[in-house]
Parts: sequence; C-alpha cells; structure tokens
Amino acid sequence: MQNNTYILGIESSCDDTAAAVIHNSKICSNVVATQKIHEEYGGVVPELASRAHQQNIVPVIHQALREANIDKKQLSAIAFTRGPGLMGSLLVGTSFAKSLAMGLDIPLIDVNHMQAHILAHFIDNGDNRMPQFPFLAMTISGGHTQIVKVSSHFDMQILGETIDDAVGEAFDKSAKILGLPYPGGPLIDKYAQLGDPKRFQFTKPKVGPMDFSFSGLKTAVLYFIQREVKENPNFIKENLEDICASLQYTIVSYLMDKLKNAVKHTGIKEIAIGGGVSANSGIRKALGEAESKYGWKTHIPKFEYCTDNAAMIAIVGELKYKEAQFSTLDISAKARLKL
Ligand code: KG4
Ligand code: ZN
Repeated sequence: MQNNTYILGIESSCDDTAAAVIHNSKICSNVVATQKIHEEYGGVVPELASRAHQQNIVPVIHQALREANIDKKQLSAIAFTRGPGLMGSLLVGTSFAKSLAMGLDIPLIDVNHMQAHILAHFIDNGDNRMPQFPFLAMTISGGHTQIVKVSSHFDMQILGETIDDAVGEAFDKSAKILGLPYPGGPLIDKYAQLGDPKRFQFTKPKVGPMDFSFSGLKTAVLYFIQREVKENPNFIKENLEDICASLQYTIVSYLMDKLKNAVKHTGIKEIAIGGGVSANSGIRKALGEAESKYGWKTHIPKFEYCTDNAAMIAIVGELKYKEAQFSTLDISAKARLKL
C-alpha cells in the first residue's frame, strides 16, 4: 500500500464539528468548530447539535484542506466517525463522508470514536514518545470512562468502564450545582488549584475493581451543598476553591485507584490517557508522580488531541488504509458502537 497518502478525517459524534488532514502520520491541519449554542442549556442538546454540524461541516472541511495546502483531488481516502455518539450528529459526518468518497472515487474508512481517542497517541509529533504495546489506555471524557488493554492497533479489550455517568459529566454536573457555566470541568480544575483538597470529604463509589460509577458522587455533592447553603447562603462563594479542590481530589484519586487495579491485574505499567478530562491538572500531576512512585511510563496526548478532534480520526484512517480496511458505501452510523 502506498505510503505517500493524504487522508481526511471527519468527526461529528457530539458537539464538535471537526476535520483534519494527515500525511505520513503527521497532522497537516486540525480544525474544530465547537458549538457554543449548548452553553445556554447547560449541556449538549442533540437536535441543536445536528443542525449546527449541518451548518459547520462544509466550511470546516474547506478550512482543513486549505490549511493542509492540498486540493481535495489529492486525498487518498476519507475517514469518518461511525460511532459511538449522538445519532443525529453522527449522520451528518457519515453522509458527508460517503458523498465525498463517492464523488472523488476514493476509499471510505469508518472509525470507532473510542478507538480513535486511544490511537491519537500514534500521531507523529516528532518526539518519539509513542506507547509500546501492550499498554493500558484510560479514556476519560464527557461521554466516556473506560480502561482498555491495548495489545496492538486493532486488538483492544475493555477491562472496566462506567456503569452510569462519565467522569466529565461528574465534573460538569457538580459544576452546575455550584452555579458554574457549562462545561464546568475546566473551571473546577482552575479553582481546585487554589484550594485545600482535604477540606471536605466525599465518599468514593464502590463498584468492580476496574469499573467506575459517578452518579452517586453528583448526588452527594448536591445534598452536601443544599445542607451547607441552608446554614450559610454564601457557603459556595466563600468556599468555592476548597469545594473544587476536594471534589477534584476525590475524582482523581478514584481514577488513580482504578488504574492501579488495572496495573495489578495485567502487570502492564505502560499507561496512556485520552479524552477531554486528560486536560485536568490533577490527573496529570498524579500520573507524573506515579512514574517515579510505581515505575509507570505514562503518556498524555497534546491537548488538541485529548478533546474531541478529527486528527485522531485521521490517524486511525491512515492505520486502516495501510491494511486496506475499507468500508462500503452502505455503511450506517451507530450510536452505540462497541470498541
Ligand atoms: O473529549 P471531550 O472534549 O468531549 C467528549 O467526548 O465528551 O471532553 C469534554 C469533557 C467535559 O466534560 C469537560 O468538562 C471535561 O472534558 N474537561 C475537564 C477539563 N477540561 C475538559 N474536566 C476536568 N478538568 C479539566 N481541565
Ligand atoms: Zn470523545
């Protein structure tokens, strides 16, 4: 299979419309249009997301081609997110990818969004720090929380996952209770860095050793805040930094507990994380400490490859292209696609 390829990746699984071009594992362009409309509603509204994708997809793809300095006729294949995600959102990217591949008469490649979060580590950043197989991947975002054993690019096994909310939702829903705007994760992180992480205690939910549960934490935060605000209406304002620090400490140590269990279970000490919550300063610090404390080798992608993006779709496209793993034009989007 030729190596001199340009592959366009298209991502539209949730509320980011994204397109990227990859050439020999290096990203030539990586464009993301984040939909601001959802901020007013405090969460993603599926119907509005698909409409916004419809408006954004053509300009985003044009921009990705322009920034990569190539014409669409130079593309070797089109890779797109098939799932998992919101059906209305996925349909926009899927239909567009099919039409473009058909119009250009080039292969179409379907990509699993969760696999892409993990394989984003194989984008060539020129630093030679790609994970070695087998490694453990923890995907932590607003839509997913999983620990996966990665034996090769396409041999992945889920060791544990959330039984209810994703970790990003735990951040965002707690932030909402504290009156912070959506998405609240980055704000909790910002205030947490100024507060005392041991000031308030939240219990860590008990589930399987490598599984997660976050819905109880959200309820615990709600009851705690309601109780305190009854006593002192200014409680949140006066204690915001300590509340955020304590909450972040609980979540990060919970994530680390699960990783430690997975290391114990598999004997693998090579760890890679992905997803929007990888931007969190607490988890970054904890992983850095684990390198010296437990002898782990940890990998955190560049920030733009942590959150939803099309560069990760493009790298999977390239890896599949090399193995001629193409899809047919009758392929359909899948909201609940398994890893
Ligand atoms: O991967 P992503 O962009 O989209 C999903 O697939 O969900 O992740 C977004 C999630 C949101 O829940 C957001 O609050 C969270 O990542 N997030 C953070 C931080 N930055 C983004 N959570 C905690 N700390 C951060 N610094
Ligand atoms: Zn994602």
